Amino acid sequence: MDKMVIEGGFPLVGEVSIGGSKNASLPIIVSSIMFDEFDSEIDNVPGLEDIKTIKKLLTSLGAEIKESDEPDKLVINTSGINNYDAPYDLVKTMRASVLVLGPLVAKYKKARVSLPGGCAIGARPIDFHLNALRSLGAVVEVDHGYVEVHADKLKGAVINFPIPTVTGTENIIMAATLAEGTTIIKNAAMEPEVDDMIFALNNGGADIKRVEQSIIVVNGVKKLRRLCHRVLPDRIEAGTFMTASAITKGDIVLKNINVQHLKAIIDKLSEAGAKIIINSSSQLRVKGSKAIKSVDISTAPYPNFPTDMQAQMMALMTLSGGLCVVTENVFENRFMHVAELIRLGANIKVRNNFAIVKGVQKLSGAEVMATDLRASASLILAGLASSDGLTTVSRIYHLDRGYEKMEEKLSNLGAIISRVKENDIPVVDEPDFNGSACSKSA
Ligand code: EPU
Repeated sequence: MDKMVIEGGFPLVGEVSIGGSKNASLPIIVSSIMFDEFDSEIDNVPGLEDIKTIKKLLTSLGAEIKESDEPDKLVINTSGINNYDAPYDLVKTMRASVLVLGPLVAKYKKARVSLPGGCAIGARPIDFHLNALRSLGAVVEVDHGYVEVHADKLKGAVINFPIPTVTGTENIIMAATLAEGTTIIKNAAMEPEVDDMIFALNNGGADIKRVEQSIIVVNGVKKLRRLCHRVLPDRIEAGTFMTASAITKGDIVLKNINVQHLKAIIDKLSEAGAKIIINSSSQLRVKGSKAIKSVDISTAPYPNFPTDMQAQMMALMTLSGGLCVVTENVFENRFMHVAELIRLGANIKVRNNFAIVKGVQKLSGAEVMATDLRASASLILAGLASSDGLTTVSRIYHLDRGYEKMEEKLSNLGAIISRVKENDIPVVDEPDFNGSACSKSA
């Protein structure tokens, strides 16, 4: 197992290029299941552990992932799919594996997928996905830890999600794409990653429209043509580097981003004192302020402040000049980074779903442990800002699920950071809040 060693206290300066979005790549890659006539071509796919897992899952179903000269391009042939099972071993490493439910049922009218179970950041059930599939006419049974879905045919229906769910919306859009008739999805997720998948499917022959902000209409089609898509930039990777500039009082230019998707993050970082200069729709510059201002943060579905940036923003707030409240409204257990930030000298108290952060003069290097993907990013940022002593972040495999070449990108900006092998006895399973093994988050 690797850990990251950081000597902090230096401003990060320079340019960084942001990769393709993890959370858009995953549904688009699995949607290739519905395009079996031609090879699917997907560009700007980041080189992440989660992408390796979804490729493994597709291969296990019988798809062929072809070699491509371009490292961020995937070419997938799904004509050989002959297995409809997503086994526990794969789903337990990445819960987004449940995204195969929609396309498998749409195309083959059957799927058997392991229930993902709880995870470090919350219980994260998939009941909304399953109820929506039932509404489309599928028979859904849960037995021995597996969800089994089958349908003679899927028929359009009105689906009203109790709260917006990102992967739930994606799963049901895919299931409805080849269904008979029209499906109306109310209270649908509004995240840009959902729209990127819709764009990819429509280009391939689907008929999907977002008729109002939170209402999506899917007119089922008989057949799809060809999937050929370039994935949108990762707004959370972008937000993480923007926060890296703010917390180190640096000056970073981010390239290959979609500025439009970063509004909530730009607003909060500006309130916190960072100067944000928008150079174009795909490039911006963040100049950190000498004095970080305290700002309250409250997470909610897009277009509000993303839960996937809460931990990183909290790291910034630990060095602010005052007191602020960070409220987590999406996941019930997404404060695992707090205890680790405290080890670095932060002053934070958690009460139910909010944390009170009182800014301190400085953070000091310490040994800390990553508990999930975004918590690891938060600890790296805090380590970069720790002005005295080394910080080592262990269990860095969480980071590799969602950030490509993080230490290389940070080193290019002047950070003193290196990846080393851990001498400790490797910890394979870690307890989640229920006491069962779990290392997944996304
Ligand atoms: N929920 C239910 N039942 C369901 C589905 C969701 O109760 O059937 C609840 C969840 O427990 C949660 C809320 O609804 O409290 C919203 O969860 P959502 O379904 O939107 O989350 P998700 O689709 O499982 C995606 C991202 C997460 C991101 C969330 C929220 C992917 C692959 N994952 O998860 O990304 O935090 O949306 O924006 O798209 C990450 O990248 O670090 C990550 C965790």
